[in-house]
Amino acid sequence: MAPQWTGEYTRNRGEPNLSKGLARYMEKYWFGGIPVDWEGVCIQNGCVSSMEGLVHLLSNPGDTVIVPGPCYSVFVVDWWVRCQTRLEAAHTSVETNFEPTLESLEDAYNRAVAGGSRVKAIALIQPNNPTGRMLSKRCLEMCLKWAYEKGIHIISDEIYAISIFEGNQMISMAGIWHELLDQKKDDAHMMHFLKNYCHITGGLAKDFGLSGFRIGICYTYNEEVRAAFSRIFGYLL
Ligand SMILES: Cc1ncc(COP(=O)(O)O)c(C=O)c1O
Repeated sequence: MAPQWTGEYTRNRGEPNLSKGLARYMEKYWFGGIPVDWEGVCIQNGCVSSMEGLVHLLSNPGDTVIVPGPCYSVFVVDWWVRCQTRLEAAHTSVETNFEPTLESLEDAYNRAVAGGSRVKAIALIQPNNPTGRMLSKRCLEMCLKWAYEKGIHIISDEIYAISIFEGNQMISMAGIWHELLDQKKDDAHMMHFLKNYCHITGGLAKDFGLSGFRIGICYTYNEEVRAAFSRIFGYLL
């Protein structure tokens, strides 16, 4: 075995000690005590790369990912340039408390389909850039149920998870996701969805002010996505 100082290649989806450390941080400060399987903590060079990686894996050119809008505008360009994946906004406003409604999701879905595109995922960003909005439990449950019914993936970008004002609490999608993993053990179809179609992203750029370190996270139970982060994107780290 080569001595450690040779700087040999490490685990391709992130150095194990880093993934383990991040898993502990996620459990304690981000997921509110939910145990995190460090093997599922896939590291990329920034959250934008984690998101782009997921979009690349989950969609084909011409497909659509729905995002509640207004949203972080870089995703529009980012997903298009390499993946040719479209971003369709589910409109939100002051009236809806900047939360997507079932109608806005259906509208976005129908617009994409009318344009000849297949919808592959919904991506939530919370706390949101630019509105700062954190989603209610009811809204998160609605989005997850909607993704399940449509048979599409759900991604929750929670890169601002702990950058919140005192007295507030962000409800991570991890909570709802794991609640269902506990409750729906007998529902094989739902379990398949929860184990394969749900992914959370984040990183150190915002909460730690470490944007230059380029540490992005994708947390998933999907074995194919984990493997792809090792095999397809490993050398981008
Ligand atoms: C919602 C959201 N995700 C991701 C990023 C970028 O994260 P990173 O610097 O880790 O690539 C930003 C940056 O502004 C953002 O607003």
